[in-house]
Amino acid sequence: MVAIKVGIIGGTGLKDIELFIMEEEQQLSTPFGDPSSPLTCGKMHGIDCVLLSRHGKKHNIMPSCVNFRANIYALKMVGCTHIIVTTACGSLREEIKPGHVVILDQFIDFTKSRKSTFYGGQPGDLPGVCHIPMQKPFNEEVRKILMESCKENNVHFHEKGTAITIEGPRFSTYAESQLFRQWGASIINMTTVPEVVLANEIGIMYAALALVTDYDCWKNDCEAVNVEDVMKTLTKNVRMAVNVISTAIKLIAKKDWDNEIEAAKKVSSTAVM
Ligand code: ADE
Repeated sequence: MVAIKVGIIGGTGLKDIELFIMEEEQQLSTPFGDPSSPLTCGKMHGIDCVLLSRHGKKHNIMPSCVNFRANIYALKMVGCTHIIVTTACGSLREEIKPGHVVILDQFIDFTKSRKSTFYGGQPGDLPGVCHIPMQKPFNEEVRKILMESCKENNVHFHEKGTAITIEGPRFSTYAESQLFRQWGASIINMTTVPEVVLANEIGIMYAALALVTDYDCWKNDCEAVNVEDVMKTLTKNVRMAVNVISTAIKLIAKKDWDNEIEAAKKVSSTAVM
C-alpha cells in the first residue's frame, strides 16, 4: 500500500487541532513563495498528518492575500495524499443553520484576483497549460468519510452543498446575497477557490468541512453577518470540528487508498498540455 499523509488546513478559529499532532515544526519555502504558516507535523491514529493555518498563526492574512499556491505546494512537497480543510461560511439556505456542518460537493467561483493555477505561464510556474477537469472538485471517498465521522460525533451535517467563494474581505451586499441564492449556492465563504482547484491540479484528494457561522445577509428576520458573531459561533464549534477531523483520520487509516491516489495523479497529469 502507498503511504498516506493527510494535510489539514485549518481555517479561521481552528488552531486547537495542534494539540493533537504537534511533534515537529517545518518552515518550508516553495517555488511559489512561503506558505501561510510553518507546517506542524505529527501523527494521529498512526497516520502522518500535517497542519497548516490558512490565515497564519496570528490570523493576520486576509483571504485575498493567502498564498494558496504555496500552501498546497508545501503540502505536496511533504508528501500529502489527502487534504481536509475547515472553512467558516455563511448559510444561504433556511435549513442550513449556524452551528451546522456542510460537506461541500460543488463550488461557484466569484473570486476576482487570485492565482488559481500552478501553470500560470510566468517564470517559476509549472511548465505547460493545465485544463483540470472540475465536474467533481471534492473527493467523493473523503467526503463519505467526513459524513461518517459527523455521524459518529453526532454533528448536524448536510451531505452536500455548493459553496460560492467571494473575493472578500468585505461581506456581501443584500442584492449579492439574494443573487447567490438564486444561483443555487448553499453557503458562502472566501477561501474554497482556488484552494480546491490547486489541490486537484497537483493530484491531492481534497474535501472540506464547511462550518456554518451565520446567515450572511439575505434573511430579513436576523442580523446581517458580522465578525463578532462569526467568531462567537466558531469558538463554540472548534472542538466539534477537531473531533470530526480526528475521527475522519481514524477512518482514513482503515482504508486502502492505492486506487484513489493513482486516479487523482492520473487526472492531474493528463490535464497538462
Ligand atoms: N465566512 C463566514 N461567514 C461568511 C459570510 N457570510 N460571507 C463570506 N464569508 C464568510
